[in-house]
This record gives sequence, C-alpha cells and structure tokens, in this order.
Amino acid sequence: TQGHAETLRTPIVAVLGHVDHGKTTLLDKIRGSAVSEGEAGAITQHIGATAVPLETVSQMAGSLVNPDDFDLPGLLFIDTPGHHSFTTLRSRGGALADIAVLVVDVNDGFQPQTLEALDILQRTGTPFVVAANKIDTTPGWNRQDGEPIQKTYEAQSKQARKRLDENLYKIIGNLSDEGFSADLYWRVQNFTKNIGVVPLSAITGEGIPDLLAVLMGLSQRYMKEEMEIDVDGPGKGTVLEVKEEKGFGATLDVVLYDGTVKEDETIVVGGANGPIVTEVRAILQPRPNAEIRTEKRFNRVESVSAATGTKIAAPDLEDAMAGAPVRVVRDRDLDEVIAEVEAELAGIEVDTAEQGVVVKADTLGSLEAMANALDEAEVPIVRAEVGDVAPRDVSIAGTAREDEHKVILGFNVDVLPDAKKELENSDVRLFKHDVIYQLIEDYDEFITERKR
Ligand code: GTP
Ligand code: MG
Repeated sequence: TQGHAETLRTPIVAVLGHVDHGKTTLLDKIRGSAVSEGEAGAITQHIGATAVPLETVSQMAGSLVNPDDFDLPGLLFIDTPGHHSFTTLRSRGGALADIAVLVVDVNDGFQPQTLEALDILQRTGTPFVVAANKIDTTPGWNRQDGEPIQKTYEAQSKQARKRLDENLYKIIGNLSDEGFSADLYWRVQNFTKNIGVVPLSAITGEGIPDLLAVLMGLSQRYMKEEMEIDVDGPGKGTVLEVKEEKGFGATLDVVLYDGTVKEDETIVVGGANGPIVTEVRAILQPRPNAEIRTEKRFNRVESVSAATGTKIAAPDLEDAMAGAPVRVVRDRDLDEVIAEVEAELAGIEVDTAEQGVVVKADTLGSLEAMANALDEAEVPIVRAEVGDVAPRDVSIAGTAREDEHKVILGFNVDVLPDAKKELENSDVRLFKHDVIYQLIEDYDEFITERKR
C-alpha cells in the first residue's frame, strides 16, 4: 500500500510547577535561544504552546543531541501559568501531555503546587523529569551560559558545588518521601522507573542542553508508538481556555493532539450544557515571534495539524469549558461524534449525593481532581460544576440540612457580585483556594473546629 498517512507527531511536553519557580522563563529561554540560533523562522509561536523543531533542539543541545538518532519532529512545550491548573491538560480521561517537566526552584524546594503537580502526574501515569531550576542563584556561582551541566560543574568552586549538591539532594529526598525513586539524571538508567533530576538555570541556560537531551531520549525510547497518528484524519483536541477576542466573540485556545482542523469544518465541543455543534469560522495563529501572552493580532490559516496549539473562532462557544474535548466531524456521522463527546463529558461527571457540599472549579480537569480528593476525604458532594460561584450555588448550599454541608468549595474561581450579596445574607460558608489539598485542609479544619 501507499500507507504513509501514519506520521510521528511532536510529543507534547507540559511544563508545570509551583508559582514563580521559573516555568515561563524556562520556555522563554528555550524560545529565545532557538531564535538566536538563527532558527527564527523554524520556531513557531502557538497558543500557550511552543514548538521546537528537532534541528533547533539539536543545535541548542550541542553534542548531547545528534539529530540522526531521532525520528520525532521535535518537542511541543505547553506552559501552565500560575492561574491555570495543570489539571486542564487532560484528554480522554488521561493526560494530554506525553511527558512533563516539573520545575522546582533549587533554593525554595518543594512547595504546595509542586506536591499537587506530583499527585496529578502520579494519577495520570505521566512520565516526567524534574528541572532543578535557578542553579545560578547558588552563592559563589560561576555562570557558564548555555553550557551542559557537566561543563558548568567543572567551572565551580568546591563550596558552590557543595551548596548546589545539598539542595539537589534535598529535592531527591522530597521525591523519595512522595514515593518516587529519583536521582541526578546522569545516574538514571531507566527514566520510566526512576525520576531524573536535571540541574539548570532558565536565566543562564546552563543545563538546558541536558534537559532537551533527556526529553528527546525519553520520547523516542518510550513513547514512539503513541506518537504515530494519522495527521490527515479528523482533528482531536482539548480546550485550554475560552477567551473573548475582538471581532470574533468567544474563541477557544486548543491543543490539537491528533489529526487536522480546517476552516469551515463542523466541530463538536464540550460545553456546560452538553455538546456544542458549530462550524469553524477562523483558525488563528499568533504572528511569528510575537509575545504569546500579550499578542492581540493573529494570522488566519486555512488548517492546522497535530500536535499544535491554536485558536479557533466559531459561533456559539460561550458555554465551552476549559478541559473539554474538541472533535472535528469531517466524514463521520454527526450523532456518533456527539455521542463520543457526551461520553467523554460523562466520564468526568461527578457522583453526587443528596446531601453534601457544593463544588465549583475553573476547568473540567480541576473539577475531576477536586471530586477525587473529596471522595478520598469522604466528603459528599451535592453539586459540582465548572464556573464562578453564582447565586444558585449559594441557595443550593443554603438548603443543606447539616451545617457542615452549608458550604461552597471553590477552586480557582471568582464569586459573581450577586452571589457575594447572597453569601452575606446567608449562613453558607465559602472556602476558596488555588491549591486543591489546601482547600480540603481548610474545610477539614472547619469541620474539626465545629466538632469540638
Ligand atoms: P507562574 O507562571 O506565576 O506560575 O510562575 P513561573 O513558574 O512561570 O515563573 P517565572 O518564569 O515567571 O519566574 C519567576 C521569577 O523567577 C522571575 O522573576 C524570573 O526572572 C525568575 N527566574 C526564573 N528562572 C530563574 C533562574 O534560573 N535563575 C534566576 N536567577 N531567576 C530565575
Ligand atoms: Mg509563568
């Protein structure tokens, strides 16, 4: 046969970690160095995602990555900004990312969101490496811009090396406390069994060649089969964010992990009130080398293929949910695709009880994670929904029989003005946090206090 439709897609690499530990700086560095390596045209800007082609990876990694050893097209990095939980990055009940980089500040060590990220990585079985970032802040550090870690180590004084090693072993110890066997990456033989720790600096770039080499090796060796997709097939993706865009109304920032999306095609998107069937009006890409997060002008393209980040404009997207599936219908039966999306949404639906707390979360993934955590803590849920706290949530919580259920738990959400007023006039308690287990800890504390 002429069967060349199966193509290796770019592995999706999620970058996660505690606030301010350097996720965005790391990606900026990779992006910036790629551009300064003379690959300005090759590095593509996407929505919330940065695609780095193999050629560029190998230039940046120097002798550590020989492009002839690889047949993957490169790496697609996805940033998870502080306000945006990693839990959004889901697909068909699993993780959207093929691999992850957990960024940990070497001085600051493990923090609440580090633990939360570890928990999700463990639950979704996502292979990951730890980037022990900010090594340049080690007292007495002698920076070696862009060099591999071995070379930079050799240039350090005994004391500086000792200080860094102490911090690195603390991180390895923390990982071990969480049940992960970890070591410095050059001592790791099997990256699916042991977690490799890569010391690096997102500012000076030292150690970044090592990180790229580890990521390429990990993808090539352990995930090649999952990378085989039909790039021309109907597109499949996950909604990262729903955003208003001038002249387009509500649009979707999507990570496409399979197939192609074209202008004018019918798509089915998971919405708050069930699947939304609509037609793609425009596919928008940020202009090359524009700053993604502030970019306001886009180029229209006729189609995009996996794996990529892209913005889709279409009518009726107001109710679309972050974390929900997007499916191109193409030559398939529309009802079948609707059923597929419905099944996926149902898979995330939370078991509710007659009495329990009200749960609100920012995305489907975080709602799912909240429901799991509450189930473990044996806290029943009466209502679970994606979205800000609304007056209806307050009235439902207010009708609970027990005081311990007159509660709204909000993860990464705001309170609508009307709901604020209602809260003031009711005995409903609102707990809000952007770390799931702390939210549950706060609630637990409240319950314990009451029982005294
Ligand atoms: P959120 O998106 O808010 O979760 O944070 P983030 O993880 O993206 O952190 P960000 O990249 O914004 O970095 C936070 C601060 O740390 C910034 O001031 C960076 O300049 C600084 N920083 C990041 N990486 C390094 C590093 O390797 N060395 C030094 N010295 N500073 C760094
Ligand atoms: Mg950031």
